[in-house]
Amino acid sequence: MTTPIRVGLLGCGIVGAATARILLEHADELARRAGSPIELTRVAVRDVTKPRAVALPAGTLTTDAHALVTDPAIDIVVEVIGGIEPARALLIAAARNKKHIVTANKELLATLGKEVLGAAETAGVDLLFEASVAGGIPIIRPMKESLAGDRVQRVLGIVNGTTNYILTRMSETGETFAEALGEAGALGYTELDPSADVEGYDAASKLAILASIAFNARVVAGDVQREGITQISVTDMQAAHELGYEIKLLAVAEQEGGRISARVHPAMVPKTHPLASVRDVFNAVFVEGEHAGELMFLGRGAGGDPTASAVVGDIVEVARNMLTGARSVGCTCYHSDASIRPPGEVRMRYYVVLSVLDQPGVLAAVAGVFARHTISISSVRQEGFGDEATLLLITHSGSEGRHAEIFCELEALPSVKAVTSKMRVIGTAEG
Ligand SMILES: NC(=O)c1ccc[n+]([C@@H]2O[C@H](COP(=O)([O-])OP(=O)(O)OC[C@H]3O[C@@H](n4cnc5c(N)ncnc54)[C@H](OP(=O)(O)O)[C@@H]3O)[C@@H](O)[C@H]2O)c1
Repeated sequence: MTTPIRVGLLGCGIVGAATARILLEHADELARRAGSPIELTRVAVRDVTKPRAVALPAGTLTTDAHALVTDPAIDIVVEVIGGIEPARALLIAAARNKKHIVTANKELLATLGKEVLGAAETAGVDLLFEASVAGGIPIIRPMKESLAGDRVQRVLGIVNGTTNYILTRMSETGETFAEALGEAGALGYTELDPSADVEGYDAASKLAILASIAFNARVVAGDVQREGITQISVTDMQAAHELGYEIKLLAVAEQEGGRISARVHPAMVPKTHPLASVRDVFNAVFVEGEHAGELMFLGRGAGGDPTASAVVGDIVEVARNMLTGARSVGCTCYHSDASIRPPGEVRMRYYVVLSVLDQPGVLAAVAGVFARHTISISSVRQEGFGDEATLLLITHSGSEGRHAEIFCELEALPSVKAVTSKMRVIGTAEG
């Protein structure tokens, strides 16, 4: 075996500690796989007195992250601090100092990926980020490498475990959103401020990375149309079940006519679709390739160990490259900045619930609004009577813009009291 490959770890929290543990406990096996020992040399944190979930070799901890990324003895810098700064500045400095980089930082890559990947490219170093999307699920490498001969047409993902847990509880126990959110919090699945999860920001960052790789064009988090799950009611869940659907927070990216659409929103998914059966904190990414057809990647999308598995896999790849003088696939955004389809043009099916007056002519008035906007109704059902009369409809595919106009006009109909619910429908034969 050759001289050790030296790793400097930035951060020793949930992911960092699990990464350090795997590197230390599986050192022999990893050395055989990489072709050289991999040595954890330095670990930078904010507070060296904090208890750690791993027994680090004496003298490895430091608060001087800048010294770590410029240390001539370090070959690979692993960033598991998170957020934009100081992670961005540290990674740029690491690249300029010819360190290969492994990061789990979705937020940084989804906003400033161009700058960070560009710095790695200029310096001629690897920058790998398998852990940044869907934790322990291998999805970046399969899309970049295994599907390099295919054309990805669409990616549908359940990429946030917290929201999938909440929706699973609501679906299986009849709990409200607030009750299920409380349970997720008690189990440690939520951040102090849960909005990044429940409002879809976390999923939007991950989708930006997935879409960039799928379509070889740079999609940033700000390009992703986003809607969270806070408005989903027990009634929506019940209606979805009665109609044969599950409600999921989906991250959807597709390309048509050279333009990309990327969006995160709740959607009704038919129970027969593989994504409908993804429960609890599990994540899944469903990829539709022109030639490979439908593929699904399923697993644990978060947590120290699953995420560290992806981080260490990247470290081993970099180590192998160093020994053979090879480089990993770098930035794959050949088309530079993406052409994003305006959200109003995206075609979609909708499930709509209307609270209506129980009187003759209501159905005709409602159908007339859809007809004027040339969107046809696939199914309609009336429930209740008197003050409780409700119409449940599912539309055929039509643009988001036309659907929005329809919802406005329905609200203005004298016979419609309110549009009480509307949700996109995805995964049917129509789209
Ligand atoms: N947790 C997951 O399940 C998961 C899954 C996929 C991806 N990720 C990504 O992995 C990254 C790390 O997440 P995490 O959950 O492990 O975070 P975490 O538990 O909050 O750990 C962050 C670590 O970074 C250190 N740190 C923060 N600021 C620093 C600075 N200025 N200089 C040096 N060290 C600093 C902290 O030091 P102290 O310990 O001294 O405070 C801590 O050890 C994030 O990008 C996250 O998005 C996490």
